[in-house]
Amino acid sequence: MTFLRRADTEHAIQQTQVTPMQTIRTVKDIRATVAQWKAQGLRVGLVPTMGFLHDGHMALVAAALKQADRVVTTIFVNPSQFGEAADLEAYPRDEARDLAMLEKAGVHAVFIPEVETIYPQGDETIVETTRMANMLHGVVRPGHFRGVTTVVARLFNIVGADVACFGEKDYQQLAIIKRMVADLHVPITIHGVPTVREADGLAMSSRNVRLSKEDRAAATVLSRSLKAAETANTVERIQHIIRETFASEPRADLIGLDIADAATLAPVTGVLSAPTAVMLSAQLGDVLLIDQRVFEP
Ligand code: PAF
Repeated sequence: MTFLRRADTEHAIQQTQVTPMQTIRTVKDIRATVAQWKAQGLRVGLVPTMGFLHDGHMALVAAALKQADRVVTTIFVNPSQFGEAADLEAYPRDEARDLAMLEKAGVHAVFIPEVETIYPQGDETIVETTRMANMLHGVVRPGHFRGVTTVVARLFNIVGADVACFGEKDYQQLAIIKRMVADLHVPITIHGVPTVREADGLAMSSRNVRLSKEDRAAATVLSRSLKAAETANTVERIQHIIRETFASEPRADLIGLDIADAATLAPVTGVLSAPTAVMLSAQLGDVLLIDQRVFEP
């Protein structure tokens, strides 16, 4: 017979206790909630989102629930990462639906701050990775990653979680956040979560619903081309296979093909000698899709 130690039993009870999900809107309240959990020795996970959740977000939540005893999800449409005011205005929002999904998934608290809470009047401080933010996707979206690191750093400081989950699909974002955490000595573990895919391989995205029936079928070219290139061991061969696969799909335009060191995002050439991120963007009709895969040499 195995006897549980008292501490184990208490931990198990805390884990299984069903508490209603809390919706929190102030820094003071989220800090108090997290402090209470930490006082009980519980590990706290964080999933930052901009809301309008889909299965990709729910995979982050599921990963966080595995990594931590208590999970906070944030819903905040961050103005500083949008280039155009119109894009920000048009960003879809459905708080009631998001809350229902998060409650069903077993999230413990949702933090939904106002813009003025995250960006207090007169604020001046930005956080930026100087090199990684201004390359690849950052070249076409100037200021985007500065907005991401600024808001993520503020959310990390507010919540004080032990671990935070981000999707590998936004590969550059994930690499930048890891760099920022290392540079600023933020006491948090960053956990990358593999891309969630439809049955035919298409990476899940809220943009997929905007594809026409024909473009939806053609959109598998992103994941197909990455799969086709998986046995290649040089940058030139990967580029060739991906371009060739796209050439057979006239509905899709390959916009970006970036091959970079998976940790530093530095460009690589020749034979792969370290984990290498292959990042794609492609236009189908008026929808821009992204996908990525890390190739291990
Ligand atoms: O990936 C996102 O949804 C956003 O960039 C994030 C990390 C929530 C910051 O606003």
